[in-house]
Parts: sequence; C-alpha cells; structure tokens
Amino acid sequence: MSGIVGYIGKKDAYAVLIHGLNRFEFRGYDSIGTAVLAANEFQIHKHAGRLAAYKEAVGENLPKGNIGIGHSRWATHGIANDINAHPHVSNSGRLAIVHKGIVENHASLKEQLLKEGFEFKSETDTEVLINWIEHIRNANGYNLLESIQIALNQVVGAYSLIILDRDEEAMYAVRKGAQLVIGVGEDEYIVATDSTPINAYTDQVINMEEEDVYRLVPGKEVQVLNLKNIEKTPVIEKLEEALDIIEKDGFAHFMLKEIYEQPKAIVDSYRGRLNATEAWVRLGGITEYRNKLNKASRIIFGACGTSWHAALVGEYLIEEMARIPVEVEYASEFRYRNPIIGSEDVFVAISQSGETADTIAAIELAKEKQALIYGICNTVGSTISRMSHAGSYIHAGQEIGIASTKAFTTQVVILTLMALQLADYRGHISKSQLSTILSELERIPDKIKEILKLDDRIKAIAKEYHEANNFLFLGRGANYPIALEGALKLKEISYIHAEGYPAAEMKHGPIALIDEDMPTVVLATNDSAYDKIVSNIQEVKARKGRVIAIVNEGDTVIKDIADHTIEIPATLEIFAPLLTVVPLQLLAYHIAVWRGADVDSPRNLTKSVTVE
Ligand code: F6R
Repeated sequence: MSGIVGYIGKKDAYAVLIHGLNRFEFRGYDSIGTAVLAANEFQIHKHAGRLAAYKEAVGENLPKGNIGIGHSRWATHGIANDINAHPHVSNSGRLAIVHKGIVENHASLKEQLLKEGFEFKSETDTEVLINWIEHIRNANGYNLLESIQIALNQVVGAYSLIILDRDEEAMYAVRKGAQLVIGVGEDEYIVATDSTPINAYTDQVINMEEEDVYRLVPGKEVQVLNLKNIEKTPVIEKLEEALDIIEKDGFAHFMLKEIYEQPKAIVDSYRGRLNATEAWVRLGGITEYRNKLNKASRIIFGACGTSWHAALVGEYLIEEMARIPVEVEYASEFRYRNPIIGSEDVFVAISQSGETADTIAAIELAKEKQALIYGICNTVGSTISRMSHAGSYIHAGQEIGIASTKAFTTQVVILTLMALQLADYRGHISKSQLSTILSELERIPDKIKEILKLDDRIKAIAKEYHEANNFLFLGRGANYPIALEGALKLKEISYIHAEGYPAAEMKHGPIALIDEDMPTVVLATNDSAYDKIVSNIQEVKARKGRVIAIVNEGDTVIKDIADHTIEIPATLEIFAPLLTVVPLQLLAYHIAVWRGADVDSPRNLTKSVTVE
C-alpha cells in the first residue's frame, strides 16, 4: 500500500526520502515519486515501476535541497503510470502533495473545480485534493494551515497527506484515518507513514492523532490544528523499535525469516500474561472490562484476510472454552449491512497493521451501535489500537513479508489467552485444566522449532508440486481455518489457484475437481475428527488425487494412504492450528521460490490495505 515520507531540516532531503522509500520497499507499490524544494522551485521526479528503476531514471543529476516529499504509490484512482504517480502539484504550481488513502467524493469536487477553470493532468483523486485546497485558499485568502483545515472538512475519505508550499520553508502533515508519524530530530522533522523511515535519524516521535493538521518549521514551535477545532498539544514519545529490526538476518526472504521467528514471537506474545504454575491468564484489556465481558451476550469478530482466519480460530476457541456465542464477520461485509449489534455485544477487531480501511469502518459502525470495541493489533499506536476501548497487542515484532505469518500465530495466541481468561471468569474451566493448557502453550514454541527442522523435506515436496495449477486444502474443526490460511498463503505468493474447504464439504462439490493433477493438502492431526479425515483422504485417493497430509509424529494409518506425510509433534486439539499452519507456510514459501516468484513483494498485494 502507498507510503508517504517528508523531510524538512538541514540534511539532503532527497537522500532522506530515498532512505524512507527504501524502507517501504516491502509494502507493495507500483510507482515512486519525489519533489524536492529549493529556491522556490519543486524538482519533481516520478515514475511507474520499482525504486531501483526510478533511481536509474533520475540518474546522476540528483535533486538538491533540504525540504522534500516522497511517495510509493499503489494505484487506486488511475492506472500505474508516470502521470498518475505522486507528488501532484496544484494548478498555480505553488502546492505539492503526497497522499496515502482515498478521497471518496473526488468526482463531485472535481466537477466544481472544472467549472471554476481548474485543469487536471492525472486521473487521481490526489490532484483533485490539492487543487481543492488551492481553491479554498484562493477564494478566502486564508493561510495554508487554515485552508487545509477548511478544505478537508469538505472532503470525504480516509487518508494521510504531506503538503509543501513553494513559497514557504514549512511542511504540512495531515492524518485522517491513516497513520502518520513525525520524527523530531535536531532542527529537522521527518514525517512518514510509519516509523521505519524515521528510526535511522531520531527516536523522538509524535504519533499524530486523528484529524490533526501540523505545520512544521525547524527551530520554531510546532503548530497544530484539528479538523474539528479541538485544541492540541503535541506529545513527543520515545520510539521503542531497535534499528536492526528490518534486516533479513541471512534469510533469503523476510517471509522465511518471519516464519522462523514464530517461536520467539509466540513467547513475546504471551510473556507476562500467564502463569502455568499459578494457573492464571491476564490480558490487561480483558481484566479492565471484566464486568462488561462477563455480561457479554455475544462476541463479534471483524477482520480481513489472514486476520479473518485467526478470527475463525478465535470463534472455535471462545465457544469451546468460554461458551460465549461468537460470530465472525468479514469487516468489508459487516460495514455495508445493517447488522444487529448493541451495547451488550463486544466487537473484536483483529488487524496486524491496525490500518485496514474496512476494519476501521466496521469498528466505527459497531461503536455507533454502542458495542464495546476490543482491538487485537500488532502495530503500536495504529489507528485501530487508538479507536478501541480496550485491546491487546500481539507483540509479533514488525512483519515485513506481505504474506502474514508470525502475526497470524501470535493473533491466535492472544485469542487463546482471551478464551482462557473469559472461561476462567465465567467458571467454565478448573484451575488444574487451566494449568495444563498453559503448560502446553509454553511448549508450543519448542514444537514449532521441531517443525522448522522439516524445512528441507517440505522444500523437496514443494519442488515436486510447484508446477501444479490448482491446489485443494482440507481441514476440520480448528484446522478448517488453517486450510483456508494455507490456500491463501499459496495463492498470494505463488499465484497458484488454491481453495480451502472444511473436509466434509469436499463431497458437496469440490470432489469433482480431483484428479492426478490436483494435489490436496490435508490437515490430519490426531484429534476428534481423525477417523473422518482418514475417510476424506481415502475419497481423494480413490479419484487418483495426490495427497500431502500433515499428521502427528508416529502416525501409521495415513502414512500408508497419502503420497506424502509431514509429521509434526502432537499437542492439545485447541493448539493444533498453531502447529499445522507452519508446514503450510513453508510449503507455500518453497513452491513460490521454486516458481521464481517475488515472495516478499507479490504482485498486486500490499502490506496494509488502507483503501476500501
Ligand atoms: C495475507 C495478509 C492479508 C491481511 C489482510 C488484513 O497474508 O496479510 O490477508 O491479513 O489484508 O490485514 P490486517 O491484519 O493488517 O488488517
């Protein structure tokens, strides 16, 4: 997804912008652009394609100046070409903008601007936006800060913006529905979509709040206006991230590194939140809202993609252990319905990035209907974490690979803790059961390490199947969401068509697809549905299908039927998803690598989907 960065200070702005855009390399984008300001002139370079091609196009003659803005674009309005790439400049040539997000009412604003004689070079909503701001300024004679405030009150959408005025040594930053961070250095500011372009220069940051408009001039007091005219005082916080977080540590791809980080990420996610000997679980947000949660008539999960799969595991865990009815909703569907939800319900939003536009809109709707909002996010200070009444961070560490891996497993850990804490509050679990379950949770990181030792074997299986055009993934119970997740991982990074199904549903349609060319991956761990799964495998084999089965160590039954078995350690049934997902992540990864695909930046995908 798009990323924006801006610099004002004493350094070479272009170098800071390129450093920042490099940090966005794994967000997913299709064009790059920068505008550097010097002697009241913008030096603009913008090109469709990747950063390396962009740098080549700029050549040796680098823009010079100490103020600049940069953008990596993921096309929403207008195709990916040089003209639609940002920055965009207003008709007078005075204002330049980079923009992340969307302007929903751009068509009607454009119509008004056209009537007033404005002209447009691109198909973007961004060019409309900067001219709308210019139009407000021209019409009223306000200063730029006020003009931005007034203009944006007439703009519908979720976005973050950085704006420069050719005639001023100042930078303007706006956050509305899309995260924006200001790095505060010595006589300099770096504004960016996240802290990765900032942390090389300073660890002092302002996490901009919703609807804030900042005017930044080095050496002068920061000016803040809020779109709703709320008075604001900027709060400078210390950035907690280590500088080395985004190195690959010798792994070929971030995705592989992140798969291998799961044992540590899982420990980080539960550290300090449980004690197996004393049999307690404590998520701060759940403790704080204990009374309300105890009375909750229903929990509704809202999420997208992989986070939605985690929600399905959460449904299984909470219903199984806490006995609270759960519904799992695609955030994008929920928000466009008239859902039945009220003050006695709890809406749990799950989002790695905390910036997913549909999940944000679903939260707004649930909030309007008085539900308690519980956010489960990875990114500290993200929009969703700020919108929630309570919540828990998953502490997965920064996830860069576009295909989510460690965020998924740590989301599942948090959902497990949530289910256990609620089960404890509601008297559905004894202390000894809780202690047994927590002890097993503490063994999960080591069990994942055992599975990671199977990497070479999985790589060999991947080689045999990497030319397949279609894959089927089957699972039952808590392994059903893992079948969906395995299929999603494979299609995202290898571009192979893959379907995930509850195993029993196979007979109701997908079985027609099975032949020797369509491999089926079956999650066949030794749980309550084991015998049924064995029958499902036999049904596939009877139709000449090839089967890769994920089984528990020592399984002899499936070994004789399936073409390949991947043996993983046994665990409690509720923890099966945390283990079975790992070989599927590795399988997808190796198949993609065998096919020569760009694993960390798959086509058309982006790390956080901030458009609707
Ligand atoms: C898949 C993946 C996406 C995200 C989805 C929601 O590997 O990463 O499906 O899970 O876009 O993103 P978040 O969790 O940031 O809300």
